[in-house]
Amino acid sequence: MPLAPLDDTITLSQLTNNPYPAYREFRAKTPVLRVKALGRTLLTKAEHTKAVKDNPVLFSSDDPNTPMERAFQAKTLMRRDGEDHMRLRKAMMPAFSAKNIREVWSPLYMEVAEDYVGRLPRGETVDFFTALAGPVAARCLAHLLGIEKANDEEMQFWSQALINGAGNFGWQPGPFEISDEANSQINKCIDEAAVGFRENPNQSALSVMVNADNPIEMEHVCSNIKIAIGGGLNEPRDSLMTVVYGLLTNPEQLAAAKENSGLWMVAFEEAIRWVAPIQVSSRLVIQDTEIGGFSIPKGDTVMTSQASANHDEDAYEDGHLFNVFRKKASHQAFGNGPHFCMGTHISRRMVGEILLPLLFDRFPNLSLPDPDKVIFKGFGFRGPVVMPITLN
Ligand code: HEM
Repeated sequence: MPLAPLDDTITLSQLTNNPYPAYREFRAKTPVLRVKALGRTLLTKAEHTKAVKDNPVLFSSDDPNTPMERAFQAKTLMRRDGEDHMRLRKAMMPAFSAKNIREVWSPLYMEVAEDYVGRLPRGETVDFFTALAGPVAARCLAHLLGIEKANDEEMQFWSQALINGAGNFGWQPGPFEISDEANSQINKCIDEAAVGFRENPNQSALSVMVNADNPIEMEHVCSNIKIAIGGGLNEPRDSLMTVVYGLLTNPEQLAAAKENSGLWMVAFEEAIRWVAPIQVSSRLVIQDTEIGGFSIPKGDTVMTSQASANHDEDAYEDGHLFNVFRKKASHQAFGNGPHFCMGTHISRRMVGEILLPLLFDRFPNLSLPDPDKVIFKGFGFRGPVVMPITLN
């Protein structure tokens, strides 16, 4: 069986600016493709991305060649498999229970949303990223994790520093110096908060981990909080911006959502299908295998593009369009298999049920003064990085 074809032309900067035209071509012609710029075998069809994530025995998350461990100063649960992974994941799970979402986080997130949306300057044009999406995502996450002493700037700095470190595949010293600084600030914050929770527990991730009957070791408590800081801020932020952009550029869909409140949640799901906040994931190949008629050798790293899977012509018609009326079909924006996103339900609640309806209720004539000024960017993570919006 042959090796997958090799692409040595596409650049990381092309993929960062807009990967979707390349993905469309790859799906049609070379759905299993070794991409030189990535040093990985890229999978762009929904069938293949799902099969890889659903098979952790063959496709491991424990890839020692990535800079994540260096950036987080820890081997996080995202780089573990099997029992080892599940033990750490389960330790944090009670914070995300349906009951806690309903009884603790929903009312609290509503208060936060009212506060942050209430402070927006009516009648002005602001950058949606810095004025609302970043800070509100930071505040909600700080509460959920139990580190609410950290301010919004600190949360955003920590999250970005960890992400940049984990994506530092050139192993440059600069990003690691910054992630090291973030780590020492986070460690201090966690240590202080943990002392308080031993006295006064609550339902936050940190509190449930330190107060468990059979708690995991403190180093793992820290690494769980760090992975949630790195993986729980920019996705709600980016999905909020993407869904607002999708609705404002499709006024008939926005009008329908204002008529039928059930459509806010549909719009949220459609937005993360359309532009997946986490676009790709990597897995290490444990044994020689085959995907789509090509030989995939042991030791290779496959990269699943959920961004591309979510536009797959086999599952969606005109997948490149934002369309809340499209036929319901499952998407892969929250991943698949044992590493399926832990924040799925809380993000749905936060963006689809709380922030979106509140924002359009308070600013019924919200508008984009110039949609062309909105810049989407990113290969690993993707969303608008600049989004001027007028608050009316
Ligand atoms: C729109 C919002 C979100 C999206 C689209 C999203 C997407 C994802 C994806 C695709 C993965 C799987 C990565 C992989 O397979 O390698 C993941 C994992 C994860 N997500 Fe999210 N996420 C979102 C929000 C959140 C939030 C708010 C949290 C809160 C802390 C969170 C916590 C996590 C954690 C801890 C994992 C790792 C799970 C594991 O490895 O077992 N996510 N997320």
